[in-house]
Amino acid sequence: MSNIKFFKEENLALEMHKVRIVQKLNLLPIDERLRAIKEAGNNTFLLRNKEVYLDMLTDSGTNAMSDRQLGAMMIADDSYAGSETFYRLEAAVQKFFGKKYFLPAHQGRACEHILAKSLVKEGDVVPMNYHFTTTKTHINMQGGRVEELYKEEAVKTTSSDPFKGDMDLNKLNAIIAEVGSEHIPFVRIELGTNLIGGQPVSLSNIEEVSKICKKHGIRLMLDASLMTDNLYFNKVREERCKDMSIAEIARAISDLADIIYFSARKLGSAKGGGIVVNEKELFDQMKVLIPIYEGFLTYGGMSTREMEAVAIGLEEATDIDMISHGPEFIAEFARILQSYNVPIVTPAGGLGLHLNAREFVGHIPGEKYQAASLVAAIYIVSGARGMERGTLSEEKNADGSEHIAECELVRLALPRRVFTLSQVRFVADRIAWLYENRHLIGGLKFVEEPAVMRFFIGRLEADGDWQEKLVAKFKEDFGESL
Ligand code: F0G
Repeated sequence: MSNIKFFKEENLALEMHKVRIVQKLNLLPIDERLRAIKEAGNNTFLLRNKEVYLDMLTDSGTNAMSDRQLGAMMIADDSYAGSETFYRLEAAVQKFFGKKYFLPAHQGRACEHILAKSLVKEGDVVPMNYHFTTTKTHINMQGGRVEELYKEEAVKTTSSDPFKGDMDLNKLNAIIAEVGSEHIPFVRIELGTNLIGGQPVSLSNIEEVSKICKKHGIRLMLDASLMTDNLYFNKVREERCKDMSIAEIARAISDLADIIYFSARKLGSAKGGGIVVNEKELFDQMKVLIPIYEGFLTYGGMSTREMEAVAIGLEEATDIDMISHGPEFIAEFARILQSYNVPIVTPAGGLGLHLNAREFVGHIPGEKYQAASLVAAIYIVSGARGMERGTLSEEKNADGSEHIAECELVRLALPRRVFTLSQVRFVADRIAWLYENRHLIGGLKFVEEPAVMRFFIGRLEADGDWQEKLVAKFKEDFGESL
């Protein structure tokens, strides 16, 4: 570890980089924010970025890039086939994961598409620690179904469990006994479970899952999109990883898996994705799909510039100074909110700060989308754009009723190295104000509801005039402008 200071040993947020390029931001007056969120159908995905002060929607494709990444983009070798850039990326991927074969794809869900198409058959069951939205949809579209094998602690929003993302091994044994290994094309572990608050998975748990998979001849697949946070948490929370380098932890994790895929919009801090395997036969089986859906085998839908940036991004993903920034800023964000008694997911995870909307706005019925209502209210009072990670992000039940999510969360993503602590403090202050005035927040109802993945483009309206009342109270307390 380089440059470790006492301050950093305390896990306090301290930037080990300097800012050399900046982008101007706007903070619209509150009346315009109210107009903007209504025009966006109360869906933060549909806001225009110029209406947003702090874009905490996601860390996908929004992490800051390093000078080395930008420099590397200039030497990109543009060629449809056989580009040198591809071979540089392939070497970086092989070094990071220690696997032989690499297939490029344009982003994470494209890898999920290729994997589901190649491996999942009608009636198959895919056990996983927790689902991700696009992953589940791809498996369902192949006629398979997902079984979530999370441990009880995973969906408890308040917990001190350091590895809430771990898979429940008893449940894994039980599902294999129930459906038979021939109906399980793979077991998937998501490193840094997105939908339950970016909670990590321990190296020891992956080892145990891998043993069970091997015993039954089932492949183990890792979704490594959120792997940097997971590496950081293993380094600081898993005793056996304390004296390992980040690169060593990465290899220890990756050696346990048969298939790994990743969104390079997250891991690699650029844009793209890829699949890695050691089995030649499996590689050959999947490789034929890449030119059909993604692009030729030496770019897979990525621009060569982005591929160069991913190659360097993967190298930088083994630097503790780089990967600690996100989780440490999130922990600081959590500490500030907890000082105001705002209900959040604990322990603080990776990716972003997660508010527990079920407790924050418990007076709103689940069918009126607690987390979606809170995320709209946060935008109105702060100009910060978060993401709903609750009932609205679920598909409805077969009978058309709402599937109330296990965890009703609002995510405020902290793309790595993008925001300052004063910006984090500003959002925390506004959320604290909102918490004091939470009784003013009301529900939402759909006006346009797509049948699949409705959270992306669905449109909603406020149930009553609570948003106008919220704005009136805000002006009373803060004055007219911001
Ligand atoms: N797996 C995980 C764990 C993810 O978080 C994501 C994306 C994907 C797969 C799909 O990757 O976006 O490159 O196609 N998560 C983004 C988010 C969208 O905002 O959390 P992708």
